Amino acid sequence: MKHFLDIHKTDPVALREIIDTARTMKDARKGLPKGTPDAETPLANHMVALIFEKPSTRTRVSFDVGVRQLGGQTMVLSGADMQLGHGETIADTARVLSRYVDLIMMRTFEEDTILEMAEYADVPVINGLTNRSHPCQIMADVMTFEEHNGPIKGKKVVWSGDGNNVFASFAHAARQFDFDLVFTGPPPLDPEPALDGLYTIVRDPDEAVQGADLVVTDTWVSMHDPQSARERRHNQLRGYQVNDALMAKAKPDSLFMHCLPAHRDDEATSSVMDGKHSVIFDEAENRLHAQKAIMRYCLEV
Ligand code: CP
Ligand code: NVA
Repeated sequence: MKHFLDIHKTDPVALREIIDTARTMKDARKGLPKGTPDAETPLANHMVALIFEKPSTRTRVSFDVGVRQLGGQTMVLSGADMQLGHGETIADTARVLSRYVDLIMMRTFEEDTILEMAEYADVPVINGLTNRSHPCQIMADVMTFEEHNGPIKGKKVVWSGDGNNVFASFAHAARQFDFDLVFTGPPPLDPEPALDGLYTIVRDPDEAVQGADLVVTDTWVSMHDPQSARERRHNQLRGYQVNDALMAKAKPDSLFMHCLPAHRDDEATSSVMDGKHSVIFDEAENRLHAQKAIMRYCLEV
């Protein structure tokens, strides 16, 4: 069974093939209306369940559109509306869904939930974000980097801000795609210890971004963080805002990324988000293409 649970759990050769497939599929449908099926529809006769236990715009819409472009059908399910949200076990849910659908994509809180889903499902499971990782996002980000600035191998990627789930998938990708990853942020918001060895820490953001090929940030308060932490986090992270002065210290042709949704003028200024380094909407678009390739990988079609 080929699940897509995390970048470090997927073979680097397979990851590279996914990116290549995504680029080929993207090129092949340039200029077509979004609802036009691809020339090849390998998900014809396939049913895909998209389960959300947290809000989503990009993941929800890009998976839904992607399945349809590949000729398949989707059902978008809210965890709260399922028996899952009322005490049915993940294992039983996985066994039942496997009798109806060919693929499950899930966005959830605990990593254990997606792992249990994968363990008991008879169909592939894709991680659409947990508290600990967001692998689909980083596949789109690697694809986006390479579209603009060529191979990511050996490049310097600097993350400024909270050492969160999206950072974790960047750390996994740093090993699999062989780039250098620097974390700059306050010690209380350091990445989890399981990621040690995959990146280096440079506390001073100005120093960290020197020579950066890519500067990345994300929201200061993630969906799984308590809202009560908001003010404290803002105070801790204010010095790590990505603004024009910080971007000016990176390479002249550096890129700026943010997975979105953003809190403009908190983690990054609008001048950066809408500025010449920014590729944030290409990232969002590439979620579609990268995930189509991930689904083809999982289903071997
Ligand atoms: N980047 C991302 O996953 O966005 P959504 O929360 O809108 O899906
Ligand atoms: N770190 C953010 C990413 C949202 C796509 C969150 O988990 O809320």
